[in-house]
Amino acid sequence: MRLLPWTGHDARGERLEIREAHRRDAARLLEHMAAIVAETEFMLQAAEDPLPEVDEQRVLLDHFARLKGCLQLVAVRPSGGVGRDPVVGSLSLINGQTSRTRHIAHLGMGVRESCWRRGVGSKLLDLALTWARAQPILERVTLQVYRRNAAAHALYRSRGFVDEGELIDEARVGDTLEDLLGMSVDVGQP
Ligand SMILES: CC(C)(COP(=O)(O)OP(=O)(O)OC[C@H]1O[C@@H](n2cnc3c(N)ncnc32)[C@H](O)[C@@H]1OP(=O)(O)O)[C@@H](O)C(=O)NCCC(=O)NCCS
Repeated sequence: MRLLPWTGHDARGERLEIREAHRRDAARLLEHMAAIVAETEFMLQAAEDPLPEVDEQRVLLDHFARLKGCLQLVAVRPSGGVGRDPVVGSLSLINGQTSRTRHIAHLGMGVRESCWRRGVGSKLLDLALTWARAQPILERVTLQVYRRNAAAHALYRSRGFVDEGELIDEARVGDTLEDLLGMSVDVGQP
């Protein structure tokens, strides 16, 4: 059965589609990124940090689509071709590009605050991990999460990620230095 696109409903019964981002999604993905970095302090990118231009994002998405260990997912509200299918969540997997690092994919994700606690993050993560397990090139998915980010930490733990270590004062948020936790999950062939 084909994994992507996935169509269904979130926990409140609203339609949801999760698919690989296409170059035509570049502008709405950037709008989504701008929104989530403004809504939460738990991203490594801040609202003041520049995002790519739309043209650059298209090139990045094309590049991602060609790489065997990279995935960019978007969770959208399907409008049946009427509207612009707003992006409510996103997840990226980016693997290393050297012979020594290509077995590891680094994960980043975010869901719009208005859609939290509806199962969107879980569905994105489940699809990404199933996809990763089907890529012979990948053996592990890693990430970094703010130590204070209890929601994301609980989500990752529930999907088998284990704590690997602490990165002390790794991120500066305003005047505060924040610790990050390194986490990983095995996605290699059994
Ligand atoms: C973390 C995040 C992606 C979760 O997305 P979501 O769509 O709300 O997640 P779900 O509804 O699928 O919830 C999955 C699990 O996450 C945990 N969780 C989510 N929100 C939580 C909260 N506010 N408090 C505690 N646990 C929470 C729970 O374990 C939950 O499972 P449950 O509903 O069975 O209890 C979302 O809160 C987010 O985008 N946060 C800001 C950005 C961020 O932190 N990104 C991760 C960077 S490493």
